Amino acid sequence: MFYQNFVKPLLFLKDAEAAHEAGVRLSNLASNSAFFSSLSKLLYNSSNKGLEQNIFGLHFPNPVGLAAGFDKNGVSPRAMQALGFGFVEVGSITAKPSKGNPKPRAFRLPADDSLINRMGLNNEGADAIISRLKNLNVDIPLGINIAKTNDIHIHGDAAVQDYLYSYECAQEVADYITVNISCPNTGEGKTFEDPDALRELLNALQISKKGRVPTLIKFSVDTDKTTLETLVEICEENGVSGYLATNTSSNRNGLKSSDSTINAIGNGGLSGKAIAQKSTEIVGWLHNMVGQTKPIIGVGGIDSVEEAIKKMEAGARLIQVYTGLIYQGPGLVKTIKTGLKEWDFPISEF
Ligand code: FNR
Repeated sequence: MFYQNFVKPLLFLKDAEAAHEAGVRLSNLASNSAFFSSLSKLLYNSSNKGLEQNIFGLHFPNPVGLAAGFDKNGVSPRAMQALGFGFVEVGSITAKPSKGNPKPRAFRLPADDSLINRMGLNNEGADAIISRLKNLNVDIPLGINIAKTNDIHIHGDAAVQDYLYSYECAQEVADYITVNISCPNTGEGKTFEDPDALRELLNALQISKKGRVPTLIKFSVDTDKTTLETLVEICEENGVSGYLATNTSSNRNGLKSSDSTINAIGNGGLSGKAIAQKSTEIVGWLHNMVGQTKPIIGVGGIDSVEEAIKKMEAGARLIQVYTGLIYQGPGLVKTIKTGLKEWDFPISEF
């Protein structure tokens, strides 16, 4: 209520990216002050009883995680733990620092409870972020999401080496690593969801080499079933530990927002309620392909306990939120956790 009535109207006066930065700054201030940290725990955190899971050797106190893109530079995992998240995924980080695309590059679609972003993988670069995370003191699993540096001059073998650099760096601090092969906002406008490109990439990363942390692959919501089958086959041959479904969409079909609003925004990845159903469908496809043996993290349009349950019924064992947080506020985590307990949440071991 406090977020909906007071904080959100103020944040929504600002441009979407500026509001996001203000939110991150606020949560960091809160996590660095004993008083505000206790207050945010009191307001937003809740017991994890009945929600704990052990997945790929990691203990998840609850299944609700923060999706990649919210904390690209690894500055707020402590604040997110105080808000009750069961895990946090930092990134995408890239081998070289990048300023991303020109601003404005994040836009709200309130009529659809959705966002469009073309941030373009802005981040401080793997070295700076990993060294910041070395001093991190949190009790929840830390995922690191890696992508290729957003620079059109890095392609072919150099693109693979670029991923490999971040992958090796992330091993030092990550509990799991997500390989983001599906960012729609790169300069080359191309992703690694091409079978040959993915095969080459996974071959170079050597995911099943001894000592590697669990490694997951993140797919786009725009992936068709046949392509997904091919990509999953390649992932399975290379010992991938699990899957994330899904990233954002380049599709604009079925939106309630006016054509003029959508056209004025231009390119970018659509997230939020508008992609919830499609992303749940992809979780279901993945579950049918590998769900008995590999954990799936469901992400895309989760803004309520009902949407969280839909993802889990489709086969997700963990879930993540991003856009839902912008529209519903930090209380969303507690709401979902409370609802999952009442729903008789399925405990899994992988
Ligand atoms: C994202 N997302 C994202 N994903 C990723 O793997 N690496 C990234 O750097 C980003 N960056 C990013 C920025 C912004 C502004 C948004 C809104 C999203 C995608 C995100 O992790 C998630 O997969 C989608 O947004 C779908 O979930 P929601 O937002 O509908 O809950």
